[in-house]
Amino acid sequence: MVKFLLIFISLTILSLTTADAAIYKGQRVFIKKCLKCHKTGQNFVSKYKVRQWKKLMKKKGKPLAELHLKNKKAKKSWKYFKSKRYTKKSKHLRQFLIEYAKDSGNVPACN
Ligand code: HEC
Repeated sequence: MVKFLLIFISLTILSLTTADAAIYKGQRVFIKKCLKCHKTGQNFVSKYKVRQWKKLMKKKGKPLAELHLKNKKAKKSWKYFKSKRYTKKSKHLRQFLIEYAKDSGNVPACN
């Protein structure tokens, strides 16, 4: 029984830290890639609801990429949104965006 409990606890801790790591990675992507245009940063993220971010970030972030690719004002981001790096990290970005969305109830610790 004790053994079982220990396994259970360590699994819980493990899954918690991997979720945190994804959010952290997503935050780094955001700071590096999105902040130069969306200067309000975390405020920008919390302008949208969880549901809206989920919609933008489905299919590896395709809707978000398309939105930028259609907009000439976002031309400087085209290279990034077309790159493999974007789709590869979109999962982390998604986690981060959802974590800090308007109705998530979380307040970011960094600023
Ligand atoms: C080169 C500049 C640039 C970069 C880099 C960029 N964006 Fe944008 N983004 C824009 C522009 C321009 C718009 C169109 C809205 C506007 O006209 O203000 C836009 C629109 C959006 C919108 C739609 C909401 C709105 O305000 O209409 C979201 C959501 C968004 N960007 C998220 C992101 C995320 C997340 C990243 C990083 C992965 C990112 N953007 C990177 C320039 C950029």
